Amino acid sequence: MGLLNVNIDHVATIRQARRTDEPDPVWAAVQCELAGANGITVHLRQDRRHICDRDVTVLKETVASKLNLEMCMAEPIVKIAEKLRPDQVTLVPEKRAELTTEGGLDCVKHQKRLASIVKRLQKKGILVSTFITPDAEQIIASTDAGCDAVELHTGMYANARTDKAIEKRLNELRDGRDVAMASGLIVHAGHGLTYRNIGPVAAIEGICEFNIGHSIVSRAVLVGMREATEEMIGLIESAGF
Ligand code: PXP
Repeated sequence: MGLLNVNIDHVATIRQARRTDEPDPVWAAVQCELAGANGITVHLRQDRRHICDRDVTVLKETVASKLNLEMCMAEPIVKIAEKLRPDQVTLVPEKRAELTTEGGLDCVKHQKRLASIVKRLQKKGILVSTFITPDAEQIIASTDAGCDAVELHTGMYANARTDKAIEKRLNELRDGRDVAMASGLIVHAGHGLTYRNIGPVAAIEGICEFNIGHSIVSRAVLVGMREATEEMIGLIESAGF
């Protein structure tokens, strides 16, 4: 059985659309925790397009479950993580032009830098995970770099459209789970998971954490829209209309 970390980046995306102070991702984190989330995930991007430094500082103080900081391996960001000491760091690749994290981190290519960052973060008591495609070579490179966990990229599964393609991607995730567990790694999964496609991935034994963002924030906007509208109508009516 797996557990849910809610990625609240897109609460901050709505705030940044107006550069105002609402909605506050810190308030959203409280709601997720009250609903039973296992943890809160945020990605502090180099361009600060959604989550900003103030958010991670306040979340570090207020998140009672687990704070998982997604981040790239750029030195200024690594320094922030060392100072902040979140419970967990998930290392991801980051391109400035992308809409969201695209492929997984290439742990084979960046193994030396990865190993040094893993050591620095673990020294601060942080559990370190890498966000990777479910390939044996990436899992082994993460193990060799000293990681505690891997987050298997479910984006290819989420994009698969035929039953055959979906089964192929699920098998890749199961094989990745096997290699990771045999290497002693904790196994997480995430990206592109929705209310429609979560079932088969949640049924993969051994995956103990799911990081889900866009679909939950999207659902929250819709299930909350009616109440928000009713509240505003109430205020207008009580003002004399
Ligand atoms: N896991 C990682 C490593 C990610 O970069 C993201 C996107 O920020 C997610 C999970 C969540 O993906 P989604 O928003 O599609 O649920």
